[in-house]
Amino acid sequence: MSKQSKIYLEKFISRKTISGRIKKLAKKINEDYKGKKPIFIGILNGSFIFLSDLIREIKVDCEIDFLKLSSYGDEKISSGKVTMLKDLNCEIENRDIIIVEDIVDSGLSVNFIKAIIEEKKPSSLRFASLLFKKEMSKLDFKIDYIGFKIDNKFVVGYGLDYAQQYRNLNAIYVLHSKN
Ligand code: IMP
Ligand code: MG
Repeated sequence: MSKQSKIYLEKFISRKTISGRIKKLAKKINEDYKGKKPIFIGILNGSFIFLSDLIREIKVDCEIDFLKLSSYGDEKISSGKVTMLKDLNCEIENRDIIIVEDIVDSGLSVNFIKAIIEEKKPSSLRFASLLFKKEMSKLDFKIDYIGFKIDNKFVVGYGLDYAQQYRNLNAIYVLHSKN
């Protein structure tokens, strides 16, 4: 996007709709993990708001840790490369792991995460993502807990950024740019 282009935001998913959906996802997770003690691993930075809302609806005993991967930089299209910027602080061998993402786009990040987590031999591994771009992702495994399946739009707010901006917005917006 050129420096001169004008950006405008269009409201896409309201705070209320997001809250309702998160409650449903949490209910399913509470049922699936009854009697277990999963570790939720949030992928920084984008998942921090989703994870904090989700975790407060979780009734089973659980732990939380974070992984930080390289970001898109300031672009809207993935560089096609993923690297790790912050590793886990906990032992995950023989533990039940739930990876928490903001959005699955090409699927490159979750593929990378799956490979590094599986190497550490957890007893189970599942994925939760607030958003899932249904036309984009080329995954050969399923995302177990999806908030919303969306078309190929660039979205911001509720933790999601464009060039590190807009994470603070209370709802999800489509980011449009006009030259
Ligand atoms: P993937 O590796 O292509 O699946 O991209 C995943 C990561 O790219 C997400 O965790 C986000 O940080 C970022 N991303 C992908 N699509 C969007 C978007 O529409 N808005 C903001 N960030 C995005
Ligand atoms: Mg991310």
